[in-house]
Amino acid sequence: MSFRNLILKLKFKYIIAVTAITCIVYVLGLFTHLLEEDFYLKFTYPYNVNIEKLLYQLHNNESVETTPINVYNYKFLSNCRQKCTNDHKNQIKLVYIVKSSLDNFKHRNAIRQTWGYERRFSDVQIRTVFILGIGNNADLQSKINNEYLKYRDIVQINFEDSYFNNTIKTMMGFKWVINFCYNSNFYMFVDDDYYISTRNILRFIRNPTNYPQYLTNNELDDFELPSDVRLYAGYVFFSSPHRHLFSKWYVSLHEYPYHLWPPYVTAGAYILTRKALFDMYHGSFYTKHFRFDDIYLGLIAKKVAIEPFHCEHFHFYKQTYTDGNYKFTIASHGYESPSELLKVWNRQKSIGNA
Ligand SMILES: *[C@@H]1O[C@H](CO)[C@@H](O)[C@H](O)[C@H]1NC(C)=O
Ligand SMILES: *[C@@H]1O[C@H](CO)[C@@H](O)[C@H](O)[C@H]1NC(C)=O
Repeated sequence: MSFRNLILKLKFKYIIAVTAITCIVYVLGLFTHLLEEDFYLKFTYPYNVNIEKLLYQLHNNESVETTPINVYNYKFLSNCRQKCTNDHKNQIKLVYIVKSSLDNFKHRNAIRQTWGYERRFSDVQIRTVFILGIGNNADLQSKINNEYLKYRDIVQINFEDSYFNNTIKTMMGFKWVINFCYNSNFYMFVDDDYYISTRNILRFIRNPTNYPQYLTNNELDDFELPSDVRLYAGYVFFSSPHRHLFSKWYVSLHEYPYHLWPPYVTAGAYILTRKALFDMYHGSFYTKHFRFDDIYLGLIAKKVAIEPFHCEHFHFYKQTYTDGNYKFTIASHGYESPSELLKVWNRQKSIGNA
């Protein structure tokens, strides 16, 4: 090989290498990161309005001076309006709004027999509904209709039930509360692949900041959360947007330009007081739609000035099972298997933790 050819060959290799590296850097989104704006200095998210005044107006059923920019106008095909009519002397304490997938019949049945069981405690009013969108399979739908007739706990809404429509599912869940179930103290939104301990939730909502220490420390035990507090609690993340192109969660700068998300509670399990839910629902009218539901709620929370409350006993990653590990567990992700949920929950119930 002549000297000249050798140089050409090396040059060629060099060009290939540079091109490859550039492509990789591009795909990983490293350039995009450089172009992000500073969340702490620059953050704003449409729509810019005086939200406090609007929340007040909406809460008091006055006409609002600014037309909402974002309204979820899907239709309730079944609304379970009888669910929260309450003829008991006790106020409804807790409503589970379970975000379920159309064909997860077994999950729903396991939940009805475990943490979603409404008569778990004779002196605490609990309600459970499952939120579903729609599909295009007639057989599946007729099974869901039968399930509804049997249990009367399925709230079905006419949007396509798919992962990127989770924000619609969530916000229609909020809307369902406002329209049909506004008389509970607490609302817990949960995915259908979670282990939940209702007993520990009831302990947590009495005194969130001192849970679980107050259970064993008498000095901390003279507190009960006032009902007008705006609590939005669960496993809180502080994270940055995914910028690599092949991520399921890829977000462009155009969609969201900042280097961090506002703090948000992971979507699998979170609890809200009525006041927090009302403010966030009304806040959504003035918060531009975002397709990830947990991020969207984080954006709304920031807008209406609610700080998400972190509790490590909501496990975003599956909590490894031992009897002791689950003593204070409120929620744990990773229960794709209904039979495992039944086993673990029954065991925890028998030792007083569920
Ligand atoms: C709110 O106002 C509408 C009419 O603007 C009325 O129909 C409705 O009953 C009011 N609701 C409450 C709770 O006051
Ligand atoms: C979300 O639901 C709407 C209404 O059914 C539908 O038009 C849209 O295609 C769905 N989007 C996704 C990403 O599934």
